[in-house]
Amino acid sequence: MADSLRGLAGDFKRFLAAQEEDELLDISRPREEQSVLSPDQVITTAGVSVAKTTPKMAENSTLTVEFPRANVASSTPAAEEPAMNKTDKTHALEELAQVIKTCTRCPLGATRLNAVPGEGNVNADVMFVGEGPGFDEDRQGRPFVGRAGQLLDKMILAMGLAREKVFIANIAKCHPMTDPLHPEKHGNDRAPNAQEIACCRKYIEQQIAIVCPKYVVALGSVAAKALISDASSLGALRGKFHNLHLDSVELPKPVQILATYHPAALLRNPNWKKDAWKDLQMVMDQLGLKGARK
Ligand code: URA
Repeated sequence: MADSLRGLAGDFKRFLAAQEEDELLDISRPREEQSVLSPDQVITTAGVSVAKTTPKMAENSTLTVEFPRANVASSTPAAEEPAMNKTDKTHALEELAQVIKTCTRCPLGATRLNAVPGEGNVNADVMFVGEGPGFDEDRQGRPFVGRAGQLLDKMILAMGLAREKVFIANIAKCHPMTDPLHPEKHGNDRAPNAQEIACCRKYIEQQIAIVCPKYVVALGSVAAKALISDASSLGALRGKFHNLHLDSVELPKPVQILATYHPAALLRNPNWKKDAWKDLQMVMDQLGLKGARK
């Protein structure tokens, strides 16, 4: 078992190192055997199945992104796949973070100060996913460290958790700016656009598959729509659990996702906090969390 896990972790490492699409065809077999894979076949690594297609830049620099839904041709049902141990998860996330830090798949790669891969407990039960780094996150290379982050920290503490116990990441890994020529400006944040989200999608999907939390909390409509793959309004998506299905990876075990308000929206509309708290209490009830002690 230990050997097979080490082998699988090695496979995942090679996957992350593969820069060219054809290198991603099959990491579990010698390259000369790769041509026998069918176009939509996926490869399974330590509970992570990786679709073979990756985003491509077309000649005119318009991004063409194809992310076929994982078609699990594997004979091993996801539920039977071994979970990654803490060391393997840590290595896989570190390798992924290195790839993210040098990513130039979309134009945000040229204007960021620092990529913000995400951070936290690799064995977290709860993973919070925001939309993308802002001014402070771009400077520090860490997620949710500005004003919205301070509120998120309070929400996490109120649940009876702590920042070190959860995993925090974003859909977009680089700072989307309204005026990219002036990254020094405050108030220069915007939501990632569809192209940027499509480019970054495989990173958050891989992070979720590696950590494999029990619950993902999508913060705000960008994260909710992207991960629930539903264009409905946040109002329609929040307040209930959805089964999480990812496009490019197979989850080792079922993960539930709950959408709630983004902390930045709560700062602007404090009267929404009551509903956000109700959402978070749904996760707390499932995990038997009693909340912060008074
Ligand atoms: N807003 C986000 O969505 N993510 C961050 O990391 C910070 C602010």
